[in-house]
Amino acid sequence: MIDLRSDTFTIPDYEMRKVMASAPVGDDVFGEDPTVNGLQEYVADLLGKEAALYVPSGTMGNQISIGIQTNIGDEVIVETEAHIFQYEAGGPALLSGVQLRTLESEKGEIPLQKIKDSIRPDNIHAPKTALICLENTHNRHAGSILSLDYIKEVGALAREHGINLHCDGARLWNAAAVTGISPAEYAVEFDTLSVCFSNGLGAPVGSCVVGSKELIAKALRRRKVLGGAMRQAGIIASGALYALKNNFNILKLDHENAVKFAELLSESEYIGIDPKAVDTNIVIFRHSDKFDTQQIYDECMAAGVMIIPFGINTIRAVFYHQISTVDTIKAAGIVKDIFAKLA
Ligand SMILES: Cc1ncc(COP(=O)(O)O)c(C=O)c1O
Repeated sequence: MIDLRSDTFTIPDYEMRKVMASAPVGDDVFGEDPTVNGLQEYVADLLGKEAALYVPSGTMGNQISIGIQTNIGDEVIVETEAHIFQYEAGGPALLSGVQLRTLESEKGEIPLQKIKDSIRPDNIHAPKTALICLENTHNRHAGSILSLDYIKEVGALAREHGINLHCDGARLWNAAAVTGISPAEYAVEFDTLSVCFSNGLGAPVGSCVVGSKELIAKALRRRKVLGGAMRQAGIIASGALYALKNNFNILKLDHENAVKFAELLSESEYIGIDPKAVDTNIVIFRHSDKFDTQQIYDECMAAGVMIIPFGINTIRAVFYHQISTVDTIKAAGIVKDIFAKLA
């Protein structure tokens, strides 16, 4: 089976497992797990921030970040297709009592004027705009990379209005690997970032929230409230540290495979895809009403390729280090043949 459903299907390789098995550990709720402490310092450094906190998931990382930078009744600006809005089960309302103001964009970069127009006036009738969230890379916009210039503009706007800026950086590593821009450069404008280790980097569990010492002290408390404080977490944190040090460069190859896959699919008259629009490891392609997405999915599955339906007439495929170039070429051939057979 060639499983292209998500880069969360990466599995820890043998070397990573060996490192995890022998990781020094302690009780992290007491702040005494040396491996967790080491990971947090390493990640804070990598992103050029004062502190980091290891959390069980990217979702918790985002939700903690929202919670520590808002008050009940506040409003958070977020892109319409953002993970925070689409896939976090209403967490901002449930956990932080905030409402989301969703704004549309082409590829994850909400037009600046739209953000400006959506910042609430200081008025007793309006909620307070407390936070702006960006997502880099942007999952539902096919792993698109937000440009540094754009991030700087949003950062300046946020500062001008005294609004904090958060980055859902679940796949920030993919952006850095492809562009050569360091994670720290990408992070400059943000007050907080949430970065994942369990996507393309291939660690089994965890994310970090990164920011100032003051914000991370608040995050520590909030993680406890959410039940995310773990004990001998060094065993999993060592997988994350190993992934950061050893798997970062693989992300470039994942991008190359994604482009290859898109190029091959673009040879089919039945598939809508622009290979030049593939920024990182995610490929989103479309088909006409003539085809049924569920049938395409079922046929691909029967032929040994797993993909994921991703909206009306839309399918997603994601590349990661257990997907070789040979698998990529084979999978593209299978998908193309199925479209041709069903046409
Ligand atoms: C953009 C984005 N943000 C956040 C997450 C959440 O990560 P987790 O599944 O660890 O909660 C994901 C998951 O893949 C994601 O794609």
